[in-house]
Amino acid sequence: MLKYEYHNLLASKHIRSNLPKEKVLEWIDQVKNAHREIMAEHNANLLGFYDLPDCSTKHIDDFIANLNPVFDTMLVLGIGGSALGNKALYSALKTEAELPRKLFVYDNVDPVFLYEILSQINLEKTLVNVITKSGTTAETMAGYMIVADIFKRKFPKDYQKRIIITTDKEKGFLRQVINQEGYTGFTVPDNVGGRFSVLSDVGLLSSAFTGIDIKALLKGAKDMREICWNPNIWENPAYLNGLIHFLYYRQGKNISVMMPYSNSLYDLADWYRQLWAESLGKRKDIKGREIYVGQTPVKALGTTDQHSQVQLYTEGPNDKVFTFLTVEYFKHDYTIPNLHPDREEVNYLGGKKLSELLNAERFATEIALSQAMRPNANIVFPQIDAYHLGQFIMLYEIQTVFTGKLLCINPLDQPGVEAGKIATYALMNKKGYDQERTEIEQYKKD
Ligand code: PA5
Repeated sequence: MLKYEYHNLLASKHIRSNLPKEKVLEWIDQVKNAHREIMAEHNANLLGFYDLPDCSTKHIDDFIANLNPVFDTMLVLGIGGSALGNKALYSALKTEAELPRKLFVYDNVDPVFLYEILSQINLEKTLVNVITKSGTTAETMAGYMIVADIFKRKFPKDYQKRIIITTDKEKGFLRQVINQEGYTGFTVPDNVGGRFSVLSDVGLLSSAFTGIDIKALLKGAKDMREICWNPNIWENPAYLNGLIHFLYYRQGKNISVMMPYSNSLYDLADWYRQLWAESLGKRKDIKGREIYVGQTPVKALGTTDQHSQVQLYTEGPNDKVFTFLTVEYFKHDYTIPNLHPDREEVNYLGGKKLSELLNAERFATEIALSQAMRPNANIVFPQIDAYHLGQFIMLYEIQTVFTGKLLCINPLDQPGVEAGKIATYALMNKKGYDQERTEIEQYKKD
């Protein structure tokens, strides 16, 4: 299992923090209430992500086993929750699990980015996967129309076999396209929001395609879910970490830094960044007063950012909570040769593994932060594999929903994102957005 080390989050002889264990205990009733609400919502079928580890993957296994023509690359067109989980899993495992097939994710509308991807892939061997729950997001639709057009012209006889679409099971324009064109369709479940959907077809299909063991991924999620059903915070890492982050947030720690000591896990911190920001950054009304809540998630990379961010982290404003991601065993490792045995500037490194240096530096940063009274947690991956990634995903999804309850907001919606989508439609002259267009014209004049 993942290890959750929280000793540097609570006040101790090493950490002079404003969060002693007693303060955490004062919140036990609110924890119980939040747990009750989560269980009720789960029973009402509103929190579908909890159930994804129990869903069959036969349709995915069958599809991958019968792929024809032979593909060596998947190009995902999607954004936000329809892209970040796919990227995180692939980046984490492509080298450590020696994945046989490649994944590219086009999650922007930057033309140069699209050009770069298209010039690196062999179209003949590329399966395109358009992912969008709503089936309307402008970025994904633009990418879909460009790429589908290229494929239709290049492969007029069998382009239908080269494009698949993952979207709502009934609603939306793309479901109609699936039916009209005869593409294979996959489903984003109704009760699973974009950023909670990586363990559905959204993330499983690209993972299975590249060679990730999706059964192990789901098993990891399931095992973590079993632990996190427990309302006792001292035995439930999702609740404990959520509560501690919430309490620090109330004390003015507005920033949550996730710092993997592993390049492979950097995109996982990006996935977390979306989950935490989009779920918890909310405006709420209390007795007619508008209140703005949310902790800003930041990603940093160890050791790289020790030479960029850590000065700020140790001596700048004490407004952050830190989470390290540590890897115990790296499948690919190097022993540093003792190239200059008589030079003490470097001979201390000789004979040590790179992973040993990496983890010593992580511990050194932990010590530096703790001495500077900066609360920090450590999540330890015994190794980077699908099983532990599944655990991590479930841990943070539950933690996020739980923290949303403590903040008294809805962690599942994203009205701010929708507002941006609507303004884009208006600016790009989409039908039905005249009113918004008029308001934008007025905004420009003002
Ligand atoms: O988490 C979310 O709901 C969002 O980030 C969406 O995933 C993102 O906006 C893309 O939406 P869609 O999948 O409908 O294209």
